[in-house]
Amino acid sequence: MFLVASHNAHVGLNQAMDVLRSGGSAVDAVETAIRAVEANADDHSVGLGGYPNLLGEVELDAGLMQGHDLTSGAVAALRGYLHPISIARQVMERLPHVFLVGDGAVRFAAEIGAKPATLLTPEAQETWARGLQPELASDDLARMNKRHDLSRWVEIATDPERTRGTVNVIACDRQGHLCVGVSTSGWAWKYPGRVGDSPVAGAGFYADDRYGAAACTGTGEMAIRAATAHSVILYMKIGLSLGEAGRRAMHDLNDLGGRYIAGMNFIAVDRQGNHIGFSSYEDATYLHFAETMEAPEELPRIHIPLRQRWVKVQEDPA
Ligand code: GLY
Repeated sequence: MFLVASHNAHVGLNQAMDVLRSGGSAVDAVETAIRAVEANADDHSVGLGGYPNLLGEVELDAGLMQGHDLTSGAVAALRGYLHPISIARQVMERLPHVFLVGDGAVRFAAEIGAKPATLLTPEAQETWARGLQPELASDDLARMNKRHDLSRWVEIATDPERTRGTVNVIACDRQGHLCVGVSTSGWAWKYPGRVGDSPVAGAGFYADDRYGAAACTGTGEMAIRAATAHSVILYMKIGLSLGEAGRRAMHDLNDLGGRYIAGMNFIAVDRQGNHIGFSSYEDATYLHFAETMEAPEELPRIHIPLRQRWVKVQEDPA
């Protein structure tokens, strides 16, 4: 039994290990760990306190997958509910579907009795307002919802370095089954309705008990385009070791064209329980917690720099 996670999952890993030790399933452990992160208002990349979109509205994405049968559930652009990971799990367990978005996800959350919540904290709201200035005056901020030219603003306001959070958790239970889960408020000041990799199976997460599991944080558009989480598993499926598979997936990201290339990270495990983390940033870490350990250990990720090609537009769109 073990847990492997992004660093910000530390708030939920002890509880998740308790779940595994008491015979709970990998999906129970993943949901437990991620709910704790979603409730942590100090984490501005997930759940409560997450940074909002360009209009100042928090939109959440989450997804999970079980390695024993490849079942998966996800929600995206969900507003007004604190625990998208639990709603994603219910999509997986109650519906013949895999993925609900926007109003449909809100409707389903209400139907299953999930509790509505206000997600935008005063601190996140203030950072949003400050983040959009000096490009926008406070009067403009108040009128954001009325603008018909948000697409011109999104590139000016959006900075890929502003948030690279998101939480990843991979769990292996007593039966040896894997589950992976991801939750995020996505890219700060994103265009309303923008969905990153986190709720997209194969991009932000993938688990297959026969080979391993992987999950991403960072610039979701890149992981979608390169199908990063599934690539790691596929490279293992064709015979590469965990380390080789991860390196190949990082190099695939470097081969992406276009000018919207920024940072990416992922964690991965193989079916023997070996674990690894990769990052395009120096000094990045991940967490590993085996059943025999008293507390999670923080381990360095392998650093593979990406050729950053994000060029921020400087023109004043007003
Ligand atoms: N990786 C999270 C996102 O891009 O939304």
